[in-house]
Amino acid sequence: MLIPSRETGFLHPRSSEITPRGIYEGRRDMLRLLAGGVAGAALATWAGRDAWAAATPRPGKLAALPGGASAVSGAVTMEKLTSYQDASSYNNFYEFGTDKADPARNAHTLKTSPWTVEVEGLVKKPGKFGIEDLLKLSSQEERIYRLRCVEGWSMVIPWVGYSLAELIKRVEPLGSAKYVEFVTLADKATMPYVGSRVLDWPYTEGLRMDEALHPLTLLAFGMYGEVLPNQNGAPVRIVVPWKYGFKSAKSIVKIRFTEKEPPTAWNKAARNEYGFYSNVNPNVDHPRWSQATERRIGEDGLFAKKRKTLLFNGYEAQVGQLYAGMDLQKYY
Ligand code: MTE
Repeated sequence: MLIPSRETGFLHPRSSEITPRGIYEGRRDMLRLLAGGVAGAALATWAGRDAWAAATPRPGKLAALPGGASAVSGAVTMEKLTSYQDASSYNNFYEFGTDKADPARNAHTLKTSPWTVEVEGLVKKPGKFGIEDLLKLSSQEERIYRLRCVEGWSMVIPWVGYSLAELIKRVEPLGSAKYVEFVTLADKATMPYVGSRVLDWPYTEGLRMDEALHPLTLLAFGMYGEVLPNQNGAPVRIVVPWKYGFKSAKSIVKIRFTEKEPPTAWNKAARNEYGFYSNVNPNVDHPRWSQATERRIGEDGLFAKKRKTLLFNGYEAQVGQLYAGMDLQKYY
């Protein structure tokens, strides 16, 4: 992004050590809800699946539950999972700071309960969804997605959620709705960088309607079988695996259906660097660096060989047809 990170490799303390009691209790309530409700039914146990499972138990760790991986094509990759430690301590969440270690350090102030997501704009059934209702709207699935950041690194993360399409169908978009805009929380009281001039707050993102309806587009509430840590976008975010990571807006408070392409935070900040589409594409360089290769977080030392970046982040079979006939150099 615009501001280079120092990439400190900072290891943050366990959340039991940094989370104030009130927030910790709130998270426990959410977990009870997850474990007891429809939402919990498909959250699988991840114990033993990878190295992260050996880590010290975290507060609110979910009990083993039956449930399998998603049946959506492309929703699972057999690549090695990024460790929970890396996925929750190396983040971009500029509302909490611009260094990769800042979100894990600062996001404990985010108050994720109560939480409401407002659906508005060109839909037959606009309304406000409490996070509890949103969690239960459809059954939760595990999706193991690659996340490729525009900065040149990637991770493999097991998300928990359901296709955004489930929510979209529920609110019945009008024929005139061509785009979906995501507006995220911008609360100066709890987010120390909101008010800074790094970005035009709130952080917003958008998708074309067919992208938003694509089954791979996930409305995510959890990762690694647990609710999302604050720094990863609690209590609800989207994950769009074939696009650069910045399209995956965190801590969403509003979903708006529009006729015109909505403005997006990074596009407003640097129009020639961050386009609306932002599909992962090794053939379209960022003006200041190549996008041909990537560094997989956690598995490589300073001199380790980089991986080749794949078109649409490896999801071409699933999403390539959405862009048939489009000039991807122009619509970057
Ligand atoms: N959402 C908000 N609200 N604010 C942000 O700064 N950063 C984006 C995206 N969503 C961001 C955001 C970027 S640049 C990336 S790469 C991903 O979140 C990172 O998600 P992760 O930290 O869970 O890996």
